[in-house]
Amino acid sequence: MRDKTILVTGGAGYIGSVCTELLLARGYHVIVLDNLKTGHRKAVHPKAEFINGNIGNKSLLGRLFNGNSIRAVIHFAAETLVTAANTQPQSYLANNLVQGIHLLDSMLKHGCRQIVFSSTAAVYGEPNDVPIKETHNTNPLNAYGDSKFMFEKVLKHYGNAYGIKSVVFRYFNAAGCTKHYGELHNPETHLLPLILRVPLRQSDYINIFGDDYDTRDGTCIRDYVHVSDIANAHLLALEGIEDLNNPTYNLGNGTGFTVKEVIATAEQISQCTIPVRIQPRRPGDPAVLVASSDKAREQLGWNPNYTDLESIVESSWAWHLRHKDGYD
Ligand code: UFG
Repeated sequence: MRDKTILVTGGAGYIGSVCTELLLARGYHVIVLDNLKTGHRKAVHPKAEFINGNIGNKSLLGRLFNGNSIRAVIHFAAETLVTAANTQPQSYLANNLVQGIHLLDSMLKHGCRQIVFSSTAAVYGEPNDVPIKETHNTNPLNAYGDSKFMFEKVLKHYGNAYGIKSVVFRYFNAAGCTKHYGELHNPETHLLPLILRVPLRQSDYINIFGDDYDTRDGTCIRDYVHVSDIANAHLLALEGIEDLNNPTYNLGNGTGFTVKEVIATAEQISQCTIPVRIQPRRPGDPAVLVASSDKAREQLGWNPNYTDLESIVESSWAWHLRHKDGYD
């Protein structure tokens, strides 16, 4: 079973739940490790084995690695709220960096050498060149981006010194849902689920954080990439990891949409007018974040299926209509 058992940390979260679903569909045996601090128990696929716990709990990890023949870890578990990261850096560094190192040490101790890590476009800070390539200079503007970037560096050192094989993915704006698993955070801060609350009659309007950016309509441009396409990239990484040289890949569609364009698309798909309120800029928001994902396409053979905004928003709308009360 060693070739087929994967430990997914954060498998009760948004991207982790979708990746778990895909791994199971491809015949893998999945163990989900999640402390349910932000994840949802019902977002864990029923065929996955669920363990409630922290990624830095060495005795728990020891039991997990001893009791199962785990081939690789896909490491999603993290604290991810950018604003909170700046006021509580201790917690972000403890969870995203220090506990992550405990996870790596447990892997090493038990002979598990492969890890796929969820990093973020936040490592780039305010970009100089768009689309952003992996070679772009890095300058995280917040403790969240920094915690992810530091762990990327840890992976490089553990690769060089101890032979850990890693693939790092820097996600741009994950969006969209599958039939069963969707985007649901508490508190919700992400644009698309917040927009959809209006046609769901859970909000009266959507805030637009800044309409005075130097972009085509004054609102921020982001690169939205479907969560299933992100999950596919993880599968390709698992399949190729042994032959790759500890690479880092951006995951995005390569096309940017403004906040107003996302709202207009949601209006068209939900057939509902979505009132907006213009608010001041949100601190630390770059005007434009668009990925070059040529490297992932060329080296991994990654080929996103959801290349237009409509299909991404449509998948999200369909899930939210069916899950008006979340997973309950
Ligand atoms: N936005 C609004 N109104 C809202 C929410 C968001 O106008 O109510 C705007 C934001 O200002 C931003 C865009 O919509 O311009 C997208 O915002 P999100 O919060 O959905 O996503 P971010 O681009 O801020 O964040 C994403 C990931 C983070 C990651 C970051 C990298 O969700 O994990 O990209 O910069 F750190």
